[in-house]
Amino acid sequence: MAARVRRVGPSEVVVADPDAFVDEAAHRLATLLRARLAGSGAARISLALSGGSTPVPVHRELARRPVPWERVDVFQVDERVVAQDHGDRNLAMIRDTLVDPAGFPEGRVHPMPVPRGAEEADPELLGVAARRYAEILPSPLDLVLLGIGEDAHTASLFPDDESWTDRDEAVLVTGSAHHSHRRLTLAPGPIRTARSRVMLARGGKKAEAVARALQEGPVGEAPARLARGGLWILDEAAASAL
Ligand code: 6PG
Repeated sequence: MAARVRRVGPSEVVVADPDAFVDEAAHRLATLLRARLAGSGAARISLALSGGSTPVPVHRELARRPVPWERVDVFQVDERVVAQDHGDRNLAMIRDTLVDPAGFPEGRVHPMPVPRGAEEADPELLGVAARRYAEILPSPLDLVLLGIGEDAHTASLFPDDESWTDRDEAVLVTGSAHHSHRRLTLAPGPIRTARSRVMLARGGKKAEAVARALQEGPVGEAPARLARGGLWILDEAAASAL
């Protein structure tokens, strides 16, 4: 059996065989996108994508699925404050694995506006960039695709810097002593209000964080709790502590 569906609290959890994870995730994302397009009657819908390595094969498989991409606008969940050509930029991965293979027209991709001279950018300039992105961000977003760190962070909302927990802006500047680079990131609000929140996690290293994040508790301790009540797509190893 390729995948089993269960509920953990308010969350729907799909546990896939290791070799079925990518296909299961792509299938469910494509189904959600098509359903949103059919159900909403909207001409276009918004899809916010995270960075990291987990989404890479899922994006590539999703790009091959029958989704009316011409009706989808791509936004970013978070971005690292580094030069445009820096290998750590999330946008490059998003373009390479989904935007280009699926053939998104340029006007449908909405990058986070990391300022030139990013690494040296002063905090005020980053604050301006965050506010600019918040102005173009649809509310609510239709689908937010998230990942989870071993410390149960999600987006670029980190448990070791809880300054973000009581902010009501839509986009924030964050950082962490344990993670590289300052970041632009969606704040809790747009994640919580998204019509669909999908969390992807694979591998035993994520098991403890997944189990903790699926439990009720302060989001400051486990920011991935922002995806509670959404759809979690895990492989068996990432679900092994549930
Ligand atoms: C980022 C991501 C981040 C990511 C997790 C999981 O910019 O790094 O948005 O939240 O989703 O760190 O990353 P992996 O998929 O590489 O484990």
